[in-house]
Amino acid sequence: MANRTQDLNIIDLFDRENGIVKASIYSDPDVYKLEMERIFSRSWLFLGHEGQIPKFGDFLVTTMAEDSVIVSRQGDGTITAILNQCRHRGNRLCLADMGNSKSFRCTYHGWVYNSAGGLVGMPHETDGYHNKLNKAEWGAIRVPRVEIHKGLIFGNWDAEAPALSAALGDVAWYLDAFLDGAEGGIELSGPHRHHVKCNWKWQAEQHGTDFYHAAISHNSALTALNPPGAPPTSFEYTQTPDETGYQFGMPELGHGAAGWFPARNDGLVRFAPAPAPAYLGGPAREEMRARLGDIRTDEMGSLVMTVFPNLSLNRAARYLRVWQPRGPNRTEVVHYIILDKKMPEEVKDAIVRGTSFSFNASGLFEQDDSENVALCHRGASEGHISRQTPLNVQMGLGFGGPHPDFPGQINHVYAEEGARAFYSHWQDLLMGGAK
Ligand code: FES
Repeated sequence: MANRTQDLNIIDLFDRENGIVKASIYSDPDVYKLEMERIFSRSWLFLGHEGQIPKFGDFLVTTMAEDSVIVSRQGDGTITAILNQCRHRGNRLCLADMGNSKSFRCTYHGWVYNSAGGLVGMPHETDGYHNKLNKAEWGAIRVPRVEIHKGLIFGNWDAEAPALSAALGDVAWYLDAFLDGAEGGIELSGPHRHHVKCNWKWQAEQHGTDFYHAAISHNSALTALNPPGAPPTSFEYTQTPDETGYQFGMPELGHGAAGWFPARNDGLVRFAPAPAPAYLGGPAREEMRARLGDIRTDEMGSLVMTVFPNLSLNRAARYLRVWQPRGPNRTEVVHYIILDKKMPEEVKDAIVRGTSFSFNASGLFEQDDSENVALCHRGASEGHISRQTPLNVQMGLGFGGPHPDFPGQINHVYAEEGARAFYSHWQDLLMGGAK
């Protein structure tokens, strides 16, 4: 490991003082392997939402990066996560995406595990194993740490990792804008899954930093959505830069968030057809104001953010995403739609349709974004010279600072504060430093 780390020269992969990232980080297999060992095996990873598994025996199957895990509700109400791998010859324990079961029987030779991972029996225990197999030693591998933040379930392979609350830090204030705006909390619709030919970092980083692209990349889509006779979409703001929006970056933990102030997002669901805006603009909005305050109600409708390493949320489009690494050159996009649990069903339907129309595998804006990151990845991964190219994340470098209304380090919305925060923590972890 030491040799490989030295060979990689991790300190040269990201120059945080000057905002320069080396193109090879997106496709180098050794970087990817080190990310699996030092980032995804040590960080808090999103597993699901409590509302997906409300009853004893309810389970969902997801992945922690590449590893399949089963997340289950136990009889005492707690939640456990186990590796979806039989300890006999390694077969999957569960082939379903979700369901209700208090045990899992391997389909190969029939070893049986309870939902907390304990090995409870197997065929031929007496005449084959002569009652010598110590079942206590051969349970499924347990995810040692599972914690919950306002309904979101996270797991961590590192038993010594800091608490989830410490790993979230100031980003919790931004995250709670999604989770805490209505009594009863949220529920998730989905997931929907699709693959993009790019490294996982492209979209994780971009969701924590990039409002820069919208005026160019999405201009034709926004124009197409304008009602007949409406003036063309314009991103030429008349406000001073400080009034345009904000960007949050947290280099010690890797999180990022950004949003425009409400000039173009005066409402929380820009893309959903009626009746969603009317519902959200009425009593629901006043409830949100009482729970979240004026800033998170009136000024943060377009909030987009990344919780390091691979969880991203978009408030206007109401989605939650997990960017699951599938090798250095492929990402599985796991897409959920965020609904307030107590919303009327017709409002939920309208939001699901609106978000699917705009941001999902076939969504109008999704196609712009997916093509961008796939082309960036090709540019950074194909060609010997291309892989060595220094790439630029210098926007707003040195212009961040405290802000009276927002926690953390704040910069102008048109900055790359979030990207620099993401790669600073990424680099610290690769070097074996701060968790
Ligand atoms: Fe699971 Fe044999 S591989 S019982």
